[in-house]
Order: sequence, then C-alpha cells, then structure tokens
Amino acid sequence: MSNDAAPREQDILDALKKVEDPDLHKDIVALNFIKNLEIDAGVVSFTIELTTPACPVKNEMERWAREAVLAVPGVSDVRITMSAAVTRGTAGEGKQSVPGVKNIVAVGSGKGGVGKSTVTVNIAVALAQTGAAVGILDADIYGPNVPLMMGIDGRPRAAGDRIQTLSNYGVRVMSMGFLTDRDDQPLIWRGPMLHSVIQQFIRQVDWGELDYLLVDLPPGTGDVQLSLTQTVPLMGAVIVSTPQDVALQDARKAIAMFRQVHVEILGIVENMSYFQCPKCGERTPIFSHGGGAATASRYGVPFLGEVPLDVSLREGGDAGKPVTALAPDSAVGEAFRQIAQQVAAQVSIANSHSVGVVIE
Ligand SMILES: Nc1ncnc2c1ncn2[C@@H]1O[C@H](COP(=O)(O)OP(=O)(O)OP(=O)(O)O)[C@@H](O)[C@H]1O
Ligand SMILES: [Mg+2]
Repeated sequence: MSNDAAPREQDILDALKKVEDPDLHKDIVALNFIKNLEIDAGVVSFTIELTTPACPVKNEMERWAREAVLAVPGVSDVRITMSAAVTRGTAGEGKQSVPGVKNIVAVGSGKGGVGKSTVTVNIAVALAQTGAAVGILDADIYGPNVPLMMGIDGRPRAAGDRIQTLSNYGVRVMSMGFLTDRDDQPLIWRGPMLHSVIQQFIRQVDWGELDYLLVDLPPGTGDVQLSLTQTVPLMGAVIVSTPQDVALQDARKAIAMFRQVHVEILGIVENMSYFQCPKCGERTPIFSHGGGAATASRYGVPFLGEVPLDVSLREGGDAGKPVTALAPDSAVGEAFRQIAQQVAAQVSIANSHSVGVVIE
C-alpha cells in the first residue's frame, strides 16, 4: 500500500490546464470544458465537453488529458467521458435568430454546377454521423436538388401552423421540391415572393433543436443571392469552388458578396480537385489543382479541404444515396468527414470570438 495522498482537485485542474484546444487557443480548463470532476482515491473521472461532436482533434484531446492527469502523483486511473454542446452563433446585425437553431450556415458559390448541393448534402450527413443535430434548407427555389440527392420523396405535413421537415440519413430537410408538382414546371417568381418563401422556410418550419442548419444557395452572386443572404440569419458561409481560374474568380465574387453583408466566411472547399484512378490510384488534376487553397490564403480565409472528382458522388447524388452515408470509409467519404470537421471547428472558432459581426 503506497502512502501517496489522494490527488487534490486543484492538482488535477492544474494538470489539465496544460492541455490546449488547438483551434480555440486556450486551455481546456479556461474553456470550461471540464465537467463532473470526481476523485475517488487514485481514480479520477471527468467529462470533457467540446464545442462540437465533430471536433477534428477529439481523440487527441482525450489522450492529452489522460496523459496529463496520469502524470499527477497519486493518480492510478483516469476515466474520461467525451461529450459536446455546440455553441450558438450570432444571427448578424438586426436579424432575428431562429429559436432552437444554433448555427445557420450558407453554402454558396459564384458559379453554378460546382457541387454546392453535393457538398451540402455530404457535409450534413457527415455532421449527423458524429451525433450533431443537422438540417438542410434548400434555398434553390427554382432548381431544388436536395430532395433527389437525399433520397426524399414525399410531402411535408403541417402540424398546427408549422410545416414539418422530412428526414433521411439523420438530416431534416425542407425544400421547394416537396411542395411543387414534380419535374418540368420551372417556377417563375419575383423577388418578393421568393423572400417570403424563404422566410417561411426559416420561421414556419418546425426545425426542432438543431446544431447546424445548412442552407444550399442557388448559384450566382446576383440580387437574388445577395438578398437571400440578408433574409436568412446566417452565422457564416462556406464557399465551394472548382480549381479552375474561372470558377475561382466567381468564388472571389461570392466572398465579396458575403463580406458585403457582414457574413463571416468559414472557408473554401475545393471540389473536383483531382481524379484518382480507381485502378492505379494515380491522381490527375483535371482542372488544375490547389487554386482553392491559394485563393483561401490570398483572402485570409480558412481552406476546408478538397473533394476528388469521383463518379460515385454523381451516382450517389442521382440515386439519393450520399456517399458519406453509403460508403463513409471510402476516400471520398473520408474527405467529406474531414471537411465536415473543419466546418464544425470554424463554426466553434467564430462563435468563440467576441459577439458582433466580422468585417473585412
Ligand atoms: N466531386 C465530384 N465528382 C463527381 N461528380 C460531382 C462531384 N461534385 C459534384 N458532382 C456532380 O456534378 C453535378 C453538379 O453538382 P451539384 O448539383 O452539387 O452542383 P451545384 O453547385 O449545386 O449546382 P447548381 O449551381 O446548379 O445548384 C451533379 O451531377 C453532381 O453529382
Ligand atoms: Mg445546387
């Protein structure tokens, strides 16, 4: 029997102060991540409550905390429970937030067809797989693709004065595609009607409690997109681009548009980054490569990662089976998991900044 005294709470907290969150640049005690600390003889147990279940360094933080506490004299065992409480973003000046919805994030691009909807759907599914509560608002009123990509075919029900979402893969969805007659009929609406629809999608849909509500924007940076970004209480925006120069020029326009309305840019995703030969594994940069990262650094915004050109993404999109749901361990599934983690980390970072809007 050793006559080591049982460790004191302060000794444990002092040890845990050496563990820093690499994204928030503060120690995990100062960040108030440590909950339910108990010391029973040499056995120390506590919960680490992160700001997102999709934290990219979750496993490392657990390991660092364990090592730090084990180094305290008298500690024989460490029992850690990992949990998360997603932080709430600010809705932007003069905008009313949506009760229950913590973070509304737009996914936009300047150019059409670069993969916004594909990226939105796969990030949403990847976030939901971490245990986060996730929704998608399909703001592409004229060409809603999310129902097809999410494999949802149905009509939402009303409950009281609220419209219910439809769900698949653990993600709640609302789209004009649920409300119009299928296929061919293009909707011709004027701006004010479009905004009232988006307002209703935001305010009159029963989103429940959501950590992340992703908004799949229509392509472009014109008046429609600009006022959509003003209609929706966004905490941030993700920009999708392909690596070509033309697409990147449009990504710059999208950055400028969000900055104009004081929406923080969470980062850039480069889609169709390269083609990986399924036989030999060789990577071919069909549309050149690295432009997304270069643009991100030039504009001082985070680079969130790259998605390869992969036929399974198109097939999965057309069949309503997102790759992240169907093949989460494939190279593309892994790419999306990492991007989803980066998005979640950037949301946490933005929310940790002092309240207020970020202007260039
Ligand atoms: N990385 C990829 N590899 C292969 N196909 C892809 C990839 N990303 C997107 N696609 C395909 O490219 C097409 C366009 O993608 P998507 O609809 O997601 O783009 P978008 O930016 O939302 O388009 P729009 O501007 O019309 O809303 C779809 O058929 C999709 O399946
Ligand atoms: Mg789209």
